[in-house]
Amino acid sequence: MSLIRLVYASESRLVDANRRAELDTILADARRLNDRSGITGFLLATKEAFAQVLEGPQDSVTETYGRIVFDPRHQAVRLLIQEPIAARSFPGWAMGIAERDETTNFIFGLYGVSPEQDLHTQPPDILVDLAHEIAQRHA
Ligand SMILES: Cc1cc2nc3c(=O)[nH]c(=O)nc-3n(C[C@H](O)[C@H](O)[C@H](O)COP(=O)(O)O)c2cc1C
Repeated sequence: MSLIRLVYASESRLVDANRRAELDTILADARRLNDRSGITGFLLATKEAFAQVLEGPQDSVTETYGRIVFDPRHQAVRLLIQEPIAARSFPGWAMGIAERDETTNFIFGLYGVSPEQDLHTQPPDILVDLAHEIAQRHA
């Protein structure tokens, strides 16, 4: 079965008061659904933006992205790249997550992500590399 990777970025519509609970819900739903459809990947989140890597069978990834695009919890969803891959970069991650906070701020900064140059302004290869480095630290 041929695998693809899709990377998108978006502007978050979550507000401070319920960000934690909303992210927990998004992640729980994502893991449950992705598990069923053979999708793995990683979600990066800041206060203002999201970037997500989805990898798996073409049909599953396309169908899942089709649902994510219309989710009211974010806006201005922009497809950055969709490409065939030989192997997964996030095997075992039905969906990982990293938020920029006091502990991850340093590593986000190493990849050039800052409040002025947030996730949705970054190129896809930087986003994949950042997600991959964080995933490996948590492995
Ligand atoms: C930032 C973000 C990331 C998401 N990631 C996934 C995901 O990886 N897989 C998934 O199935 N749904 C994900 N969702 C949730 C979908 O948008 C959608 O709510 C969910 O798939 C259920 O679809 P339904 O409400 O049409 O049944 C994400 C939502 C947001 C806002």
